[in-house]
Amino acid sequence: MHFRPFVLNTPRNILVTSALPYANGELHLGNMLEHVYTDVWARFQRLRGHEVVYLCADDAHGTPTMLRAESEGVEPEALIGGLRNAHVRDLQGFLISHDNYHTTHSSENQEIVETIYLRLRDAGLITTGEVEQLYDEEKGLFLADRYVKGNCPRCGLADQYGDNCEGCGASYEATELLHPVSTLSGKTPVKRTSTHYFFDLPKFTQRLRDWTASDAVSGEVANKLAEWLDAGLKPWDISRDGPYFGFPIPETEDKYFYVWMDAPIGYMASLRNYINGAGKARGIDFDSFWNEDSSSEVVHFVGKDIIYFHALFWPAVLAGAGFRAPSRVVAHGFLTVNGVKMSKSRGTFVLAETYLKHLDPEYLRYYFASKLNPSIADIDLNLDDFLNRVNADLVGKLVNIASRCARFIEKNFDHMLAAEIHDAELWQAFQASRQTIADYFESCEVGKAVREIMALADRANQYITRHEPWNLIKQGDKVEAVHGICSQGINMFRFLMVCLKPVLPETAARVEEFINAGPLQWHDSAEYLRSHRINQFVPLMRRMDKKALMRMMDDSKPPDAPESEAAQPAPKQAKDAHVSLDEFLRIDLRVAKVLAAEPVEDADKLLRLTLDVGDGTRNVFAGIKSAYAPDSLVGRQVVVVANLAPREMRFGTSEGMVLAAGEGGKEIFLLSPDSGAEPGMRVR
Ligand code: MSP
Ligand code: ZN
Repeated sequence: MHFRPFVLNTPRNILVTSALPYANGELHLGNMLEHVYTDVWARFQRLRGHEVVYLCADDAHGTPTMLRAESEGVEPEALIGGLRNAHVRDLQGFLISHDNYHTTHSSENQEIVETIYLRLRDAGLITTGEVEQLYDEEKGLFLADRYVKGNCPRCGLADQYGDNCEGCGASYEATELLHPVSTLSGKTPVKRTSTHYFFDLPKFTQRLRDWTASDAVSGEVANKLAEWLDAGLKPWDISRDGPYFGFPIPETEDKYFYVWMDAPIGYMASLRNYINGAGKARGIDFDSFWNEDSSSEVVHFVGKDIIYFHALFWPAVLAGAGFRAPSRVVAHGFLTVNGVKMSKSRGTFVLAETYLKHLDPEYLRYYFASKLNPSIADIDLNLDDFLNRVNADLVGKLVNIASRCARFIEKNFDHMLAAEIHDAELWQAFQASRQTIADYFESCEVGKAVREIMALADRANQYITRHEPWNLIKQGDKVEAVHGICSQGINMFRFLMVCLKPVLPETAARVEEFINAGPLQWHDSAEYLRSHRINQFVPLMRRMDKKALMRMMDDSKPPDAPESEAAQPAPKQAKDAHVSLDEFLRIDLRVAKVLAAEPVEDADKLLRLTLDVGDGTRNVFAGIKSAYAPDSLVGRQVVVVANLAPREMRFGTSEGMVLAAGEGGKEIFLLSPDSGAEPGMRVR
């Protein structure tokens, strides 16, 4: 990827964004990879003295949000409000320096999406067409691909989603599935036709080709885009029928903007919200960022899975509505953990919150930074490597430079740095790397920047080791040399911390306090501090504790294989460990709703549950009291073995068994169906 030439003294105006996380789930380390990438770049630009506005928001709309809210029995607004708070908390925990974090479910966003839509419509870029889709009559919903399963129309494999087959790889329309079933209701959907609104994407083919050929994307992404462009673009369906959690399309009946229509507009809405609120004093002008002839920059960081939206739809929509195109779309690969895709069942799905409970965010910021690059290859978090790299590089190399030198400056030279450079050639070598490091950051080659910086840290350490100030100090005539060496050590350390400030903002703040020469700016890396008084050295960074890392991974493990009620002994293994399908199907598993829950006197593990199982109520005793407060269960759905022989207990008859996972004690996790299930529904 090329980058704009940088002319000193002309600050650039840069709007930087990370993709807007969906408001229907918590943030995980994969999301954090993207935010750290963006944040390092944004902080680097600020360090250089540029005017940066780093924005993000929650992506609130769509069917999943609607369904999750429904299943939790709350309004979508309440759901997204809670998740937004959790997102902001986690992002702050990782020291992500957004200037504003808004939501797409906002008045600003509605206003802008309507403006854009009306401009597109008035320019003749919106058409309508009839679309046949699967419709769930019970739920009263058109079914998106992920909510239908059936047999592959090509190879017949069962249990395939509505878009493609995991068996033979075929792509198809959901309406082509054989024996389709709605995953929401379990019912067979019907085909139904409705009017949809389309954006004339093909009209922008040439423009997109030109944009692709500019420096906006890496060569790798440009190739991908070329493939899509060569294959031919199709009009883009931007409407969804109600019920849908989103903004109504003006002058239509029960049509809503598809979530991906208003999501990127959320970047603009977040800017508008910022300008009107917290950012007012900065005097930022909305139009100067988004006008067609804008000389400001708009840079989007996105994962490889959403390149299509950011590099085809988004620039085309912007162009159609008279706005500028993004200056750059930086795409990255996916995070894997110990070489495998993040997965809940494998225990490699680590939530941001879980990480922060156990470890310092700067460890992961550094590790990610050391691996980030503008290709879309996946990036692995290897736990052993993580531990070793952080401890070896940050504690063993970087901080070591300062701690080796600071004590001499304090004890022997009254905190004053020497007046002269000790090894001018070495300092020159540092200076010679400045531009290289800046260029790497600028072109998003963060990993290369970190390697360059660490190579200099090695040289600094070798220099100190070679001169052995701890021995020299014992020789009366070498005291001045010690002063020079340790002062140079502190100066080299300061240079390295300027470069690493975008990655390690908190450590940098401690170093600023220690060095006592104001907040570090990029140009400070060109300055050699002479006859300068430094403050008392403070510990700058602790070693990562392997045990804390293990605890984080333990916390991310799924509860163990399901156990029949927590207190039950495991059944004796039969000779043939297999259960025939028929045997399994004899077990009547049902969705049930907890109508009432109360503790049982004289039984400290049990709760008495009154369950609605569709055809009536059941009384079931469950050994889950150690993990669930009775009140928290009322209204929630569970899975129950409905045809278990009734069991007489001291306190009454138990008419079924509630399924839960976990070891017992606090580690009991009730199984619950996804949203859409209803009491009495059969579980298979
Ligand atoms: N809401 C959309 C983006 C709308 S932008 C106008 C979305 N949300 S997401 O929550 O699914 O993903 C947010 C970002 O996180 C995306 O850029 C996505 O690529 C990225 N990642 C999600 N999982 C990831 C990994 N495992 N690794 C790295 N990035 C990952 O898509
Ligand atoms: Zn198939």
